[in-house]
Parts: sequence; C-alpha cells; structure tokens
Amino acid sequence: MRFPTNKYIEFIKNTKKPFFLYDGEILEKKYKLIKDNFPEEIDVFFSMKANPNINFIKIFKNIGAGLEIASVGELTACLKMGVNPKKIVFAGPAKSIEGLTLAVENSIYSINIESIQELKRVDKIAEKLNKKQVVNLRINPKFKIENSLLQMGGGAMKFGIDEDQLIELKEEMNSFKNIIIDGIHVFAASQILKEELIIEYFENAFKLLRKVENTIGIKVKTIDIGSGFGIDYEKKNNELNMVSIGKNLKDVFNKNRDILDRDNFKVILESGRYLSAESGVYVTEVTDIKTSIDKKFVLVKGGINHLLRPALIKHSHKIEVLNENIENDVVSIGGQLCTGLDFFAIDQILPKMEIGDIITILDAGAYGYSESMLYFLSHDFPSEYLAYKTEINMIRKSKNSIDIINEQIELSELII
Ligand SMILES: Cc1ncc(COP(=O)(O)O)c(C=O)c1O
Repeated sequence: MRFPTNKYIEFIKNTKKPFFLYDGEILEKKYKLIKDNFPEEIDVFFSMKANPNINFIKIFKNIGAGLEIASVGELTACLKMGVNPKKIVFAGPAKSIEGLTLAVENSIYSINIESIQELKRVDKIAEKLNKKQVVNLRINPKFKIENSLLQMGGGAMKFGIDEDQLIELKEEMNSFKNIIIDGIHVFAASQILKEELIIEYFENAFKLLRKVENTIGIKVKTIDIGSGFGIDYEKKNNELNMVSIGKNLKDVFNKNRDILDRDNFKVILESGRYLSAESGVYVTEVTDIKTSIDKKFVLVKGGINHLLRPALIKHSHKIEVLNENIENDVVSIGGQLCTGLDFFAIDQILPKMEIGDIITILDAGAYGYSESMLYFLSHDFPSEYLAYKTEINMIRKSKNSIDIINEQIELSELII
C-alpha cells in the first residue's frame, strides 16, 4: 500500500520540516486486510513497539484490535486510553517487577513468559496480590524462518523458553499456584515476505503447541503468533497477498480443528510492521548539495537521529522527491549528523534536486520515530502528525535544542 502523498501535498509543503505524517485510515485498511481474508478465529493485536503513539492505540482499540505491549510505559498508555485489559498481552525479555505487578493488578489477558524464572516471579507476584494470572509460554522454537530480515528462532536466544527446557518446566508444574498457563506464544522472525514461509510458520507453531502439551502434560486454549509479516520497502511488487495467504491458512487451520474447536480457544496474531509501516512518511527538505570526487551528496534537515532504521538494518526505504524534475541524478542522501552512517540512500537514481526541495521517506510508520536516537547532536526533534478522516492534527510536539538542554540538570558545584 503506497502512502497517498498527493492527498496531503499542501500540508506537506506548508509544514515545518522535518516531521512524520501518518494516515490513520491506512492502519484501518491494513487491519481489515487481515480480518477479511484470514481464518475468522484470528484476533489481531497491534504490537505497540512498532509505533507507541497513543492515537494509534485509540484507532486500533476502536476497530477491535488488541494490543501487544512490552513495557510499563506501553501498558500504562493502553490503560490510559481505556483498552480492555483482556485485550492486552505483555511480551518481552527481562520484564520489570513494576511492569509485572501492574499487569497482574490489572488482570491483563496474558503475560507472555520468557523464562522459567519469570514464570516463578509472576506466580509470586500474583500470590502476593491474591490473584490468578493467565500466562502464555513464549517458546524459543527450534525451527527457523529462512530469508527473513530478523531471525528470532532456530538457536540460542534471549527470548522465550527453549523447547528442550520444557522437561525442566514439567518438573516444576505442581509448584505454581497462582498462574494459569493458557497457551503458547511464538515469534520467530520479522519482515517475512514469502507466503510459503508464513504458511510453514503457522504449521510449525501448531506442531510446537502439540509438543508443549505432550511434554508438560497440559491442554492449552491459546496460540499466540507474533506474525512478523513484512512489507515491500523497496516497492518491487513484493507485497504479501493476504487473500492467498488467508486461503492457505484456512487449510492449516482445518488440519488443526481438534485444537481450534476446543471451548473458547483463542488465536492471536500480533503484528507491528505490517499494520503500521505504510501508514507513515518522514518528510524533510534539502539543505545542501555537494560533490566529493566523483560522488554527489544531497544533504537534508534531520537524519538518522529521526529515522534510524535504514542505517540500523542496512535496509533503505523508498524515497519520493516532490519536484517536477524529469532529469535524474545518482545521489546519496545524508542528514545532519557527524557520522558516516547518516544516510537514507546511497548512490540512488532519483529526480535531480535543488536546495529547498522536499523529500518523503516512505514506510516510516513502524520502527521510525521511537526506534531512533533523537538526542544525538541535540538537533530539534521532528513533530508527528496524524491525518484521520478529514483532519490533520499534531500528535506530538517537536522539541527544540533549548528544550533538550533545559531537561538537563546543572550541578551547582562540580569538583574536578
Ligand atoms: C513478541 C513480538 N511480537 C510481535 C512483534 C512485532 O513484529 P513485527 O513488527 O515484525 O510484526 C515483535 C517485534 O519485535 C515482538 O517482539
């Protein structure tokens, strides 16, 4: 899905750059693509780590999605936005006691357990609060999803309980009094773009569920799959075809009817990138153009301090140049940071640019603003805007260098 830049062209031209602009209706459309095509048992949960803005929570809550959270902050935001705790799952390694306590106090649907020690910790916290807490066991799967950008299985991981540790868990099962093990959770990869890998992933997740049941001797009621569905960052017609994936998944589900037909069985599909990446663009403007030896550099306001992902993952995002130039140039686009890492594009063919031209970097709605390193070099932070229905509103103010300096605490006497 391509961001409708033309629809917002006046706003883009007239707004102080750099900024992020999100289109809330794209979030809804992406959610609907899953809901309309996938097996009806599936509940979609938005992974807040992709974009923690409270207005994203609001949109997803209103269309019936759940929220997958990974910190006290994300949980607090969901509670503040009135998300039903039964629509929240809490995943992530090394959860704090504060976070676990808040989760148990609010009886969220599930804490996804990352280690046997964490299971014991939750049991103790629940006992102290005189509660029973539902948990899903996050399993570090032996299977691996080849060809995906980020692998989260198939070897030693800081995430989840190894399949081979389940025997150890079986021995401890009788000692837990205040937890209810409701199901399993598996998140094996991110940015998966191959349909057959997705189908195999789901097949393997059901096999894993059976293995867990057989090994620890319980019957579960939930399978929670961190989908890792990818998006076509390079715009090379590699978009996932949700109709065809949905059809094939229905076959996988039919082969696992014995499990799915259990009373109140839940299937949760977590997604961050697929639901939100295409909803956002990072907008900035050209401030300098120079050549060095045989290379041409276009330099822009901002940089990877605002959108780190292209440098972090070495994965470029499609760039649109908002001018009418039909002549092309081979250029590298860099930002204001004093590091050779600060590039959005290296030697790309793009329309010839001039100082003052506006560029948009697509697919910046996931792992954009919040995954970056905003404080580096004390540059202004970008603002964030949300277009929804007929309005465009600011949803996060910029922070300028004076604000950044004023946040620091000057010591009155420093002994050197
Ligand atoms: C447990 C879990 N679930 C879901 C996600 C979302 O992944 P994606 O953005 O690839 O959908 C993540 C991402 O790190 C995760 O750690």
